[in-house]
Amino acid sequence: MSLLEARSLNTYYGDSHILFDVSLRVERNEVVALLGRNGAGKSTTLKSLMGVVRPRSGSVIFDDADVTGKPSHAIALAGMQLVHEERRIFGSLNVEENLVLAGLTAQKKWPLDRIYEMFPRLKERRTSRGTDLSGGEQQMLAIARALIRDPKIVLLDEPFEGLAPVIVHDLMQACRNLAAAGQTIVLVEQNLAATLALAQRVYVINNGHVVHEAPAGEIKQQPEILQRYLGV
Ligand SMILES: Nc1ncnc2c1ncn2[C@@H]1O[C@H](COP(=O)(O)OP(=O)(O)OP(=O)(O)O)[C@@H](O)[C@H]1O
Ligand SMILES: [Mg+2]
Repeated sequence: MSLLEARSLNTYYGDSHILFDVSLRVERNEVVALLGRNGAGKSTTLKSLMGVVRPRSGSVIFDDADVTGKPSHAIALAGMQLVHEERRIFGSLNVEENLVLAGLTAQKKWPLDRIYEMFPRLKERRTSRGTDLSGGEQQMLAIARALIRDPKIVLLDEPFEGLAPVIVHDLMQACRNLAAAGQTIVLVEQNLAATLALAQRVYVINNGHVVHEAPAGEIKQQPEILQRYLGV
């Protein structure tokens, strides 16, 4: 059985129908990417999986349990973590306080040393307040806050957006190390090269529909898909 499976999700914001029968699956130890244009419904898909928004119909099966309609904190306890586009760290707390706080209610957790090994920059900045961090450091902290809870799956929403190339390089290396260690990841990214370098399998979302699914290696050979749905 897949670690995570979405079956025919329909999600609305008020009266606006956003996701249409979205189905996808993520195997254990797999890195899966969601690609699509601005407004395609990528973030809404992640939020629907995590219980941040409640799908009107369909189901979400996670780690052999039906989590459909459960609140996000319950889904987090079951081992899913979502790193939002808008990073959500505590600006008034320092790096280490942010990490400790994130780990508080977790059943299992990574030791801080493991986090610092993955993100040496965070170790250097351990006593700096969230507001004093660069964009890249904030993103590292946001991801680290998810990892400290030793998630079974982590959903990353545009982790490289708006960051300098050198930081993207470091973050990508961290993601590669994570994947190599067996971490299951769902990645939403606009950076096509980065996505295809990290993911094994890709879903393309367009206007709230899953329109294509393929191994990442195949997508590169399909310029018509990239052109039609991603405009690249
Ligand atoms: N809170 C909200 N209320 C109403 N409509 C929303 C809300 N959030 C998103 N939408 C709309 O839902 C659609 C899908 O948005 P979503 O954020 O899932 O897209 P996305 O693929 O993540 O786009 P982006 O690449 O810009 O992050 C868009 O038309 C968007 O305007
Ligand atoms: Mg989005």
